[in-house]
Amino acid sequence: MKIPFVDLHAQYLSIKPQIDAAIAEVIGQSAFIRGPQVDSFERVWSATLGVKHCVSCANGTDALYIAIRALGLKPGDEVITSAHSWISTSETITQAGGKVVFCDTDNETFTIDPALIERKINPATKGIIPVHLYGQPADMDAIMAIARKHNLWVIEDCAQAHLARYKGKFVGTFGNAATFSFYPGKNLGAYGDAGCIVTNDDRLAQWMAAFARHGGKGDHVIEGMNSRLDGLQAAILNVKLPHLPRWTDARRKIAARYDELLTGLGDIITPKVGPERDHVYHLYVVRTEKRDALRKYLTDAGVATLLNYSKALPFYPAYAYLGHQPADFPVAHTNQSRILSLPIYPEMTDEMIGSVGCAIKDAFDHFAASSSGERRPELRINNAGPSAECAAARSSQCTSHRSAPSVAKQ
Ligand SMILES: Cc1ncc(COP(=O)(O)O)c(C=O)c1O
Repeated sequence: MKIPFVDLHAQYLSIKPQIDAAIAEVIGQSAFIRGPQVDSFERVWSATLGVKHCVSCANGTDALYIAIRALGLKPGDEVITSAHSWISTSETITQAGGKVVFCDTDNETFTIDPALIERKINPATKGIIPVHLYGQPADMDAIMAIARKHNLWVIEDCAQAHLARYKGKFVGTFGNAATFSFYPGKNLGAYGDAGCIVTNDDRLAQWMAAFARHGGKGDHVIEGMNSRLDGLQAAILNVKLPHLPRWTDARRKIAARYDELLTGLGDIITPKVGPERDHVYHLYVVRTEKRDALRKYLTDAGVATLLNYSKALPFYPAYAYLGHQPADFPVAHTNQSRILSLPIYPEMTDEMIGSVGCAIKDAFDHFAASSSGERRPELRINNAGPSAECAAARSSQCTSHRSAPSVAKQ
């Protein structure tokens, strides 16, 4: 059975009539830029989260840039963010004229470690950008307490965390502003690029809406940029949004099943969820010292996996100028060679989840047998015995499946 990393076509088929009708409506109305679908999405998404404003824009990277520009940086100002994220979180700090200051992560949750933030603060520090990575909320109480104490702004990067909650409250409702990506593979994904910023601050919302539309439609109060959510993407998001709670639930069930199947296999560490956090499992990321061998084994077995990400941010060439060493970010640096993202999407069947679990079990059996010089464990598995469950799962596997679509890369 080939198991893709995500299967957006399966999701489309499950809501095809509504999607097709929504697209036809936009085309019928020629409501390509702004229009009723965009207004409706902004209204419904802000109401869902319980925030006053949603300013839609072209993607989650623009959302970060617009929010940072709105909160304002002068040359030399510093912004602290997580050493473990997608590069949008840090590149936009530089683009907005600031200096990126990376902070290491908590080893359990992969989110910024609040215990390390204060030592990074100096008079040039202006803000903190925590990332709710993989769908797990960062420790927002601790982060907001530090921000209040040092008079810093906070922008939450919620690109991977639609409907995740911290202490019962949706992420995106803690900081001065929060940004979302609706990249197709995200938990709430459009059929192209899309993003937004949410905030309770009226002045900030007004400035961001103007900045994203050339500094104000018909009255260019400032120089801005062109970053718009288009009508087709908004219409698709409007169709998908009511399904998001159910899809999130499905992700949690898959994660729980993976936890059951994988706990105790080799040296594998399944994702840990911090106290009072509701993870939405945009990604299900395990850790093992045998990461590269496991990834190869799974690829050969037809199971697609990803590295999110191949390096911690400070160790990419783009940040060589900062001169960081592994010892500066020991957690993020260690995790960069251990993390492996497994397939997770709401339409995964029990059989598919079981097959991924079996393939991982086979891999660890194989590693153990190879290191002790035994015969390959596949022979044992096919003869039933302790791995009868895997053999049974294998015998009922499908023989064809689409390959993983390219949208899975983030
Ligand atoms: C943590 C994080 N921040 C920001 C972004 C940027 O979003 P977009 O791809 O919509 O620009 C992403 C997208 O992958 C992300 O994962």
